[in-house]
Amino acid sequence: DSYSLLILPGDGIGPEVMAEVRKVIDWFQANRGMRFDVSEGLVGGAAYDAHGAPLSDETMAQAQAVDAVLLGAVGGPKYDNLDFSVKPERGLLRLRKEMDLFANLRPAQCFDALADFSSLKRDVVAGLDILIVRELTSGVYFGEPRGIFTENGERVGINTQRYTESEIARVARAAFDLARKRAGRVCSMEKANVMESGILWREVVQKIHDEEYADVELSHMYADNGAMQLVRNPRQFDVIVTDNLFGDILSDAAAMLTGSLGMLPSASLGAPAANGRPKALYEPVHGSAPDIAGQGKANPIACILSFAMALRYSFAEAQAADDLEAAVEKVLAEGARTADLMGPEGGTPISTSAMGDRIIAALAG
Ligand code: NAI
Ligand code: MG
Repeated sequence: DSYSLLILPGDGIGPEVMAEVRKVIDWFQANRGMRFDVSEGLVGGAAYDAHGAPLSDETMAQAQAVDAVLLGAVGGPKYDNLDFSVKPERGLLRLRKEMDLFANLRPAQCFDALADFSSLKRDVVAGLDILIVRELTSGVYFGEPRGIFTENGERVGINTQRYTESEIARVARAAFDLARKRAGRVCSMEKANVMESGILWREVVQKIHDEEYADVELSHMYADNGAMQLVRNPRQFDVIVTDNLFGDILSDAAAMLTGSLGMLPSASLGAPAANGRPKALYEPVHGSAPDIAGQGKANPIACILSFAMALRYSFAEAQAADDLEAAVEKVLAEGARTADLMGPEGGTPISTSAMGDRIIAALAG
């Protein structure tokens, strides 16, 4: 069995961090008998420079055909004044839209060696490992009617929170499937006390659970209380599933539980393909970091952990994913730090490629 993977390094530090993921892929092929069928393409400014569009039709078709897409980052000052229709982020938006990636996965995992980087106290976050699943393609950001209208002589800004049963059901299934590969617990967050969409959300999530996922533990929480619980005692959660708006806010808050932007992976999943693997795009949360691009300073861990997510959620290689995360943990515990992970006490940072090499060495044991 081989895994098909499309790599889109993109702009700025994207190619630099992706080079380290390539080393990891090569290591798993050479040492674990895994076979990856890797192709590479252009996205963002790099694609615009090559053919005048931030994502070509050929690359889009390739993305639809593979098991997983791994993206670096897009954008940079060189492209800031381009017309909106060809801006680098349009490449990313096109991928998300045409692949119909409705479930956005944002893990918040706290490595012990970095617990002091958290906005919270070490004893609250040590060992934290939660996953927020945010509905990404519907809800108040897309609902109609929307616009600024005039009513009774003054303007009114309108957005509509709207969810269909099938939209709720598919993201709920994604969350339950993920929970089965983790600690087996899902907490669903909405505001069923004040929102009609929240009432429907709670009802549909409960129904999908009872009919298809009774083995997973399900709880419900109002999203405002959820925000409070996330900073009070985040380790009570395993998987959190929530709508687009609440998920946007809760996932950004959760990111601060763990520290540096250079450490945060993400994934966006769509419907399962014929082989059972979901449409999937994996990418670090950070952008192209033009301020440090080309200097060998970027932290490759966010991108490497995004690949670990691909191993776990696209390829069902849980052991390999565990081993890769353990290698990252070990290297951090040994004190290896890229510049973004330097605390006030200082020290000598290592380069992007040195960090990649350390992780490979830790994998090799
Ligand atoms: P950014 O995430 O690129 O950088 C913010 C700060 O964090 C910078 O100081 C940067 O040096 C640092 N940083 C980010 N990733 C790092 C890493 N792996 N290692 C070490 N330090 C890291 O966000 P910013 O500066 O707002 O945006 C820069 C460009 O990236 C813009 O063109 C923006 O549109 C684009 N962008 C792209 C995203 C994507 O491709 N998904 C997401 C966010 C921004
Ligand atoms: Mg946000």
